[in-house]
Amino acid sequence: MPMDASQYIDVTTEKNHYSLDHFVIPSHYERDVSSILIPHGVIMDRVNKLARLIVDEAKGPLVVCCILKGGHQYFADLINAVKKLTTKNGETIPLSLEFIRVKSYKNDQSEGVTMSITDEECNEFRGKNLLIVEDIIDTGATMVQLLKKLETFEPKSIKVTSLLIKKTPKSNGYIPDYVGFAIPDAFVVGYALDYNEYFRDLDHICVISDEGKKKYAI
Ligand code: HPA
Ligand code: MG
Repeated sequence: MPMDASQYIDVTTEKNHYSLDHFVIPSHYERDVSSILIPHGVIMDRVNKLARLIVDEAKGPLVVCCILKGGHQYFADLINAVKKLTTKNGETIPLSLEFIRVKSYKNDQSEGVTMSITDEECNEFRGKNLLIVEDIIDTGATMVQLLKKLETFEPKSIKVTSLLIKKTPKSNGYIPDYVGFAIPDAFVVGYALDYNEYFRDLDHICVISDEGKKKYAI
């Protein structure tokens, strides 16, 4: 079930504009981001709450699927939090972990995704409860196509968590089951989100600067 908008944190550049001087930024990125949108500590606090919500609703063992590369940091912090929690009955949740690189394609014939795992590996999903862990939902196209593909392997259930959802007019309306923050329609980096493979080594989620865009353009 899509998470209700009142349940996630609405981040705006007006409300959440931290100056770069307020926190520590790696010196190699000092000029490449214009502001800190979500400080690392706030991300971690929110991840703990998302873990709580996931454990509260979990029905048995989970196959947690990390969508690489951007999802790796959220995935790592989320499972660390989930491992420490128990359900209302005092039970811990058995987890198995899967890592998938997803590429979306769209041409005049069809639209879809290719996954870095084989159909044979996907057959292991049959009858299991999947939890997909993504960094950001932007237009929503990739996730909708990925879910369509995963459903063909007949898992028992599929839930999706994304740390971020972008408020963009290009959205197809898809909203995950567990959302951390809704962010403005700007390009963000950090906490494993990249721009041409740069900025994954930055802890805070930041808005990229014009200088940064130019410097790391390909
Ligand atoms: N940042 C990084 N990766 C992304 C974004 C973004 O804003 N949107 C979609 N993928
Ligand atoms: Mg991604």
